[in-house]
Amino acid sequence: MNHPCANSKSLLLQVLNGCLLLCMILIKDSAIAAIPTGNETDLQALVHFKSKIVEDPFNTMSSWNGSINHCNWIGITCSNISNGRVTHLSLEQLRLGGTLTPFIGNLTFLTTVNLLNNSFHGEFPQEVGRLLYLQYLNFSINNFGGSFPSNLSHCTNLRVLAAGLNNLTGTIPTWIGNLSSLSRVSFGLNNFIGRIPHEVGLLSSLTSLVLYGNYLTGTVPSSIYNISSLYYFTFTQNHLHGTLPADVGFTLPNIQVFAGAVNNLTGSVPASLLNASKLEILDFSLNGLTGTLPKNLGVLYRLTRLSFEHNRLGTGKTDDLSFLDSLVNCTALQVLRLGVNNFGGVLPKSIANFSSQLHTFALNSNRIHGNIPAGIGNLANLALIGLEGNELTSSVPDALGRLQNLQLLYLNVNKFSGRIPSSLGNLSLITKLFLEENNFEGSIPSSLGNCQKLLVLSLYSNKLSGTIPTEVIGLSSLAIYFDVSYNALSGTLPVEVSKLRNLAELVLSENNFSGVIPSSLGSCISLEKLHLQGEIPKNGIFKNATSISLYGNIKLCGGVSELNFPPCTIRKRKASRLRKLVASKVAIPIAIALILLLLLSCFLTLFPIVKRAKRKTPTSTTGNALDLEISYSEITKCTGGFSQDNLIGSGSFGSVYKGTLSGDGSIVAVKVLNLQQRGASRSFIDECHVLRSIRHRNLLKIITAISGVDHQGNDFKALVFEYMPNGSLEDWLHPVNNVQTQTKKLTFIQRLNIAIDVACALEYLHHFCETPIVHCDIKPSNVLLDNDLVAHVGDFGLATFLFEESSKFSTQSVISASLRGSIGYIPPEYGMGGKPSTLGDVYSYGILLLEIFTGKRPTDEEAFEGGMGIHQFVAMALPNRVTDIVDPSLVSEQDFDEENQEFEDEEKAIRKNYEIEASAKGLMEDCFVSLMEIGASCSANPPSERMPITVVINKLHAIKNSFKKIKHSAI
Ligand SMILES: *[C@@H]1O[C@H](CO)[C@@H](O)[C@H](O)[C@H]1NC(C)=O
Ligand SMILES: *[C@@H]1O[C@H](CO)[C@@H](O)[C@H](O)[C@H]1NC(C)=O
Ligand SMILES: *[C@@H]1O[C@H](CO)[C@@H](O)[C@H](O)[C@H]1NC(C)=O
Repeated sequence: MNHPCANSKSLLLQVLNGCLLLCMILIKDSAIAAIPTGNETDLQALVHFKSKIVEDPFNTMSSWNGSINHCNWIGITCSNISNGRVTHLSLEQLRLGGTLTPFIGNLTFLTTVNLLNNSFHGEFPQEVGRLLYLQYLNFSINNFGGSFPSNLSHCTNLRVLAAGLNNLTGTIPTWIGNLSSLSRVSFGLNNFIGRIPHEVGLLSSLTSLVLYGNYLTGTVPSSIYNISSLYYFTFTQNHLHGTLPADVGFTLPNIQVFAGAVNNLTGSVPASLLNASKLEILDFSLNGLTGTLPKNLGVLYRLTRLSFEHNRLGTGKTDDLSFLDSLVNCTALQVLRLGVNNFGGVLPKSIANFSSQLHTFALNSNRIHGNIPAGIGNLANLALIGLEGNELTSSVPDALGRLQNLQLLYLNVNKFSGRIPSSLGNLSLITKLFLEENNFEGSIPSSLGNCQKLLVLSLYSNKLSGTIPTEVIGLSSLAIYFDVSYNALSGTLPVEVSKLRNLAELVLSENNFSGVIPSSLGSCISLEKLHLQGEIPKNGIFKNATSISLYGNIKLCGGVSELNFPPCTIRKRKASRLRKLVASKVAIPIAIALILLLLLSCFLTLFPIVKRAKRKTPTSTTGNALDLEISYSEITKCTGGFSQDNLIGSGSFGSVYKGTLSGDGSIVAVKVLNLQQRGASRSFIDECHVLRSIRHRNLLKIITAISGVDHQGNDFKALVFEYMPNGSLEDWLHPVNNVQTQTKKLTFIQRLNIAIDVACALEYLHHFCETPIVHCDIKPSNVLLDNDLVAHVGDFGLATFLFEESSKFSTQSVISASLRGSIGYIPPEYGMGGKPSTLGDVYSYGILLLEIFTGKRPTDEEAFEGGMGIHQFVAMALPNRVTDIVDPSLVSEQDFDEENQEFEDEEKAIRKNYEIEASAKGLMEDCFVSLMEIGASCSANPPSERMPITVVINKLHAIKNSFKKIKHSAI
C-alpha cells in the first residue's frame, strides 16, 4: 500500500517542520504534483467518514454523493493552494451520530476539523496525529470517550484545541506542553483525573484555559500562573487544593475571567489581584479561603461578578466589610456574593452608591449587625437581596419598597423588629418573601395582597398579631408555601383562603385563631401539607384520605374516618417552640436548604404530579398500575386516538396533539414523548423538574404529566399543557403556504409585546428561580401564543439547572452530556466547551429578536451571503440602512393603520395627518434602530458583551413607550 513517494514526502515534511503553514503548503504544492491520487484518497476518506454516520436528522450526508464533486459537499472546503485537497471539515451542530473514522488521518491537508455539538461517540482515532497541518480542532459537545488521542502530540501547529463536554477519561497529557502554538484549550466538563501537568505552563501563547468540571487533584502548577497572555482561566469544580500565589495579580496582568470555585483552596486572597485591572469575573466561592478581602478591592473597576461565597473569610470583627466602600467604583457590578463567611461589622451607607446594574446582593449567613441602610432603595436593578442569618436589628427600611425589580427578599433569621413595612406591597415582581425568625410585631400589612407574583410568604416565628388580612390570605399566586405559625395572630380564618388554589403548603399552627376552619379550604386543590389545629373539613380534597398529609398535627380532630383523627372536643392550646428550635439549628444557609428541598421535590416529581392527575379523574379509585392505564386511556380518548387531525406539531422529542379533557371540557396540548429517541426519557424528567418548580405568566403552564404503559405494554410518557390557540411564533413569522396557518401578519406592537414577554420569561428563569435555569433552546417554535397573543415560552426538554451559580452542588452529574440547542440559535462559546449559561440564552434571544423584526431565519443562507449570519447582516445595516432590513410588512402603510386601530382605546379616534405621519415614520425608524441594536448586542460573540436581560427588558419598555408617543403625536 505504501506509495513510492511516501518516503520523500515524509522527508520533505520533516524539513519543513516549523515553517509557517502557508509556506508549507506552497512548497508542498510541487510535491503534490507527483501524487495524482491525492484527491482520490480524500474522496475515499470522506466516503468512509459518511459510512460511519448512523444518525443524521438533517440529512446533511445526502449531499455527500457521487453526483457532486466532494469539494462541494456540505461542510467540505478544498483549497487551490493545496491542489484541490480538502482543508476544512466543518460539520458543527448537525446532530450527527456515530463514530469517527480513522480514515480522517488520510485527509492530509486538513487545517480545520470542527465537529462541535454532534453526537459522535467512541474514541477519537489516533490517526488524527497524521494531520500535520491541523490548526483548529474542535470536538466539544460530543460523546467521545476513552482517553485523549496521544498521537495528537504530532499536530504541532494546533492553535485551538476544544474537547469540552465529552466523556473523556484519564489524565491531561504532559505532551500538551509541546504544542507551542496553542492559544485556546478547553477540557471542561469531562472526567479527567490526576494532576494538571506543569507542562501546560510551557504554552506561552495561551489565552484561554478551561479546566472546569473535572476530577483534577493536586494543586494548580505555578507555571500556569506565569502565562502572562492568559485572559480566561477557570478551574471551578475540581478537587484541587493549595493556595493562590501571592503575586498572581502581577503574573497574570491580562486576566479577565478568573474562577476556581468549588475546590479545596486555602490561604488568603492575594492583595496583588488589585493589579489585575482587567478582571471582570472573580469567583472563588465554596473553598476554604481565610483572611479578609483587600480594602481597596474596588480598584478592579471592571468587575461584573464578585463571588467569595461560602469560604471562611472575615474575622467577625467590626471593620470586616470596610472594602465594600471601594466597590462604588465598580460601575458594572452585577453580582456580589459574599454569603456564608465570617464577616462581622455593619453594612456601610456607601452601598447606596453601588452600581445601578447590581441585581444580586447576597451577604447572608455572616455576623453582620446594625441596620439595613435606607440607601439600598437606590439600587433599582436589585432582584435578589440575601441578608438572612445575620444579626441585623432595628426596623426594615421603607425604602425597600422602591426596588421595583426585586423578586427575592431574604431577611429571615435576624433580629429585625418593628412593623413589616407596608411599602413591601409595592414590590410587584416579588416572588419569595422570607421574614421568619425575627421580632416583627404589629399586623401583617394588607398591602402584601398587591404582590401578585408572590409564591412564598414566610412569616413564622415573629410577634405578629391581629387577623390575617383577607387580601393576603386571598393571594391566589401563592403556590409554594404560606407559613405564619408561631405568632400571635387571632380571629377566624377568612373564607378567602379558598383562593389559594395553587398552594402546596399552608402552615397556620401556634397562633390564637378561633372559630371554625372554613369549609372553603376544600377548594385548595394543590394542598399537600396543612398544619393547623381544629376540625378537619370533610369535603373537597379532604374527602380522600390518601391525597393529603396531616401527619404530625396532633391537635387536629374530626375529618373523614380514614384519617384516624379523634372526634373534636374542646380545643386546648399549649405552646411549643420545637419548630423554632429545630429551625434555628438548621438555619445556616436557608437558601441552600431550600434548594435541597426543591431538588428533593424534583426527584419526587413524577409521583405527586401523577397523583394529582389521579385526583382529577374521579373514576380512578383502584390500584396504581390501573390508574396509569386509565390516564393513558383518557389521553388516547381526548386526542381522538392520537389522530393526525389533532397533531399540532412535532418537536425534537415527540409529537404534540390537541385534545379535549372529558372532565371540564378544557382544551389541552398533549406532548407525547418518542421514547425511541435517545435522551427522550431524560428530557421528560428534565422537563418535569423544571416545570415543577417554576411559574410565570410567560411560561407555558403544565397541567399534568403521565408516565406509565400504553395498551401494548410499552413505556409511555406524556406532558399535558394548556392549549395555545394561536400556535407558535414560528407559524406567524414563517407561515407554510399549503398548511392552514395565519394569513395575518403580526403588527409591530404585537411583535414588541412578544419580545418583551419572552425576555421576562428568561429573566425569571435566570434570576428569580431558586436555582437559575438555562432554557438552552430559545427559538420561535418554542414561543407559543395564547388567545391574546401573549407569549408563553415552552419546551423545557433541554433546560439545565445552573447549580454552579448558587450552591455547592457538584454539577458533574447534573449537567447532561447531551447539551444541545437548535442550529442558528446556539451561542458560539458552547463550542469552546462553554457550559450552559444564562448568557447563552441571551445569545439565542438576541437571534430571536433579530428574526422577529427582520422576518428572516438565522439559517436563511440565501439572505446572508458569504457565510455571514443574521448578526452580521444586521450589524452591517446599522444604523443608516435599518429600514432595508426590517420585515417589509412593518414599514408598509397598512401596518400603520392596523397599529393605529390597536391604540384606538387609549388614544381615541385617529385623524390622518400626512405631515405628522412622516415625522412619525422617522421616529419609527429610531425604534427599529434601537431594536436591532439590542438584538445585535445580545447576539454578540463574546458573552461579556451581551446585554443583561434585565437591561433588555427596560430598553424594550422604553421603546414601547416612545412608540405610544409616536401614536399620540399622529392624532
Ligand atoms: C482529481 O484531480 C484530477 C486532476 O485534477 C481530476 O481529473 C479528477 O477528476 C479529480 N478527482 C476527484 C475525485 O475530484
Ligand atoms: C487511509 O486510512 C485507512 C485507515 O487509517 C487505511 O486503512 C487506508 O489504507 C488509508 N489509505 C487510503 C488510500 O485510503
Ligand atoms: C462514559 O464512559 C463510561 C466508561 O468510561 C461509560 O460507562 C458511560 O456509559 C459513558 N457515558 C456516556 C453518556 O456515554
